[in-house]
Amino acid sequence: MRKDPLHKCLFPVAGLGTRFLPATKDIPKEMLPLIDKPIIHYGVEEAVLSGCRDIVFVTGRSKRSIEDYFDRSTELEQLLEQRGQNELRDNLVRISEIANFAYVRQSEPLGLGHAVLCGEPCLNDSHFGLILPDDVILSEKPVLGQLAEVHSERGGSVLALEEVSWEETSRYGIVEGLELGNGLFRITDLVEKPLPGEAPGRLAIIGRYLLSGSIFRHLRSAGAGVNGEIQLTDALKGLLAEEPVFGLLYKGERLDCGTKVDWLRATVKMALRDPELKEFVLDIVRKEGCLGR
Ligand code: G1P
Repeated sequence: MRKDPLHKCLFPVAGLGTRFLPATKDIPKEMLPLIDKPIIHYGVEEAVLSGCRDIVFVTGRSKRSIEDYFDRSTELEQLLEQRGQNELRDNLVRISEIANFAYVRQSEPLGLGHAVLCGEPCLNDSHFGLILPDDVILSEKPVLGQLAEVHSERGGSVLALEEVSWEETSRYGIVEGLELGNGLFRITDLVEKPLPGEAPGRLAIIGRYLLSGSIFRHLRSAGAGVNGEIQLTDALKGLLAEEPVFGLLYKGERLDCGTKVDWLRATVKMALRDPELKEFVLDIVRKEGCLGR
């Protein structure tokens, strides 16, 4: 049973990024750099490599720089051309050409489910991708593409899963499911951020989803859930009763960039993967006298 390919991907980016203040007073947290690209760029690349050509951002106040980043910058391009820096110029132009970009606003911070609902007018396909860009995932095959493969064979919705420790379950949506083999589960229940000791398992939803368009009906009728917000997990629970929802233990390495410490770890890990930067990092650490203690 082959299903339609994936064309669209939604990025909720309206959050205020308070964990990074004052750095994010005037810059969206999604625009903080991970080495030489803003965090959001990695998620968009993943969506494009997974086959998406339409990217929809659900933005909020003070997120204009995301729009500017994915648009042409003619003055800068002209300047680089005059200076003969054509390769750099072409790289900048390419950013605006990798996909079609659309923007909708989420005027109130009413939760992830509400952010997804705000994107509905731009998402009229039978299914769409959803990427939470705080997680950058390094993988041979893009994770959203891994979910799209499951969808193309089995239909339904597909969530990326990772096994987390019992102490961490309260940070995630946790699923229960029947194992189908090769890291694939047919999900039977979900709970948002269960308290320690109350989690039904350790399989956590990570910020990659392939969602059936039917999710909107469930989001519209979802009341306030955990933290008084409209939770995507609650709508998925409703969807389960009607359509299959699968979970896939994705293949890849997740770099959480959602807090200062996580972002720092992600930056160092990325630098250590680059042969040139690796030497710089090790050299700094050596000179600071921290190695070998
Ligand atoms: C959201 C979802 C949660 C999921 C998590 C992944 O929570 O509600 O189910 O596990 O993303 O990052 P948030 O991190 O927005 O609080």
